Amino acid sequence: MTVITHIEDLRVLAERRVPRMFYDYADSGSWTESTYRANESDFQKIKLRQRVAVNMENRSTRTTMIGVETAMPVAIAPTGLAGMQHADGEILGARAAEKFGIPFTLSTMSICSIEDVAAHTKAPFWFQLYVMRDRAFIERLIERAKAAKCGALMLTLDLQILGQRHKDIKNGLSAPPKPTIANILNLMTKPRWCMGMLGTKRRQFGNIIGHVKGVENMNSLSAWTAGQFDPALNWHDVEWIKNRWGGKLILKGILDAEDARLAADTGADAIVVSNHGGRQLDGAPSSINVLPGIIDAVGSRTEVWMDGGIRSGQDVLKAVALGAKGTLIGRAFLYGLGAMGEEGVTKTLELIRNELDLTAAFCGCTDIRNVDRSILLPGTYPQ
Ligand code: GLV
Repeated sequence: MTVITHIEDLRVLAERRVPRMFYDYADSGSWTESTYRANESDFQKIKLRQRVAVNMENRSTRTTMIGVETAMPVAIAPTGLAGMQHADGEILGARAAEKFGIPFTLSTMSICSIEDVAAHTKAPFWFQLYVMRDRAFIERLIERAKAAKCGALMLTLDLQILGQRHKDIKNGLSAPPKPTIANILNLMTKPRWCMGMLGTKRRQFGNIIGHVKGVENMNSLSAWTAGQFDPALNWHDVEWIKNRWGGKLILKGILDAEDARLAADTGADAIVVSNHGGRQLDGAPSSINVLPGIIDAVGSRTEVWMDGGIRSGQDVLKAVALGAKGTLIGRAFLYGLGAMGEEGVTKTLELIRNELDLTAAFCGCTDIRNVDRSILLPGTYPQ
């Protein structure tokens, strides 16, 4: 058994255990993947200031995100098809997050439904919304999220249309996988995954199948997205959704200071600086590079969070040092889930917290809430 000491170990294990098409779905970006790579590599350019002989007793990584107490400035990002990385993936992820004390966000494109996750958890989770052309369906989804007592609605603004992901097209991504020879041969090498799937009924998009007239299966995710997602989504719709929901609102997918100002104008409780993990506009800057400019533009009007490229607690610390009040982890969560189910997600969270705690301590910080740019080496971080 591999000794797991960092997220990369979980990624390697997930790659071994998860069927190729779902591993690829999680682990790739759009087109040349330059933005996907920059998200990670731009973190590496930022250097930390080591401080010594500072009392390191009584350290804390605890903070709040939109008023919710959290064990560290990290929430689980909404990720499509988590229930295909591992059977019942969203329920397992939400449970691990609840036990650890951080927020979990359920994607519209999840396998386990809102009701199913609510039935298997106690802590309120957040619900991520994609806006479809069928507004009656969106109204029902919002009502379902309210009925499940979701603590916040996270509206994704950067996926009205889908960035082209070469591997998904080549793999013929669908949930469940089609019984082609290539898929069957690949599934034969993933007995653990197959056993899990045989033991669950949750194998389709739980929030959608049976809730949208005429949609009985989703043979092609990209064709479905192109047909159903609303390319006309605009700030008036954001206002409409905000009023309809009436609770805490998080706007995700902001990468530009001008858009951040418009997002703050809506009165959103938080915005997420994000390029969708490099899965949408390839060639866009990394999230960490644009974070400081966005904080300068709106940081006092709304909480600013970020995602994209976080593979360690050091990355979380750097984002917080640059002013993020919180971060989201998508792939790091999916690697843990695909590798070892709930235990793997817990491992991801433990690894990140330990790295965050130790790195902050090396930088002379005992309380994450006091971290600022002074822990970064001048000239190495984006302004
Ligand atoms: C959906 O969120 C995706 O990036 O595929």
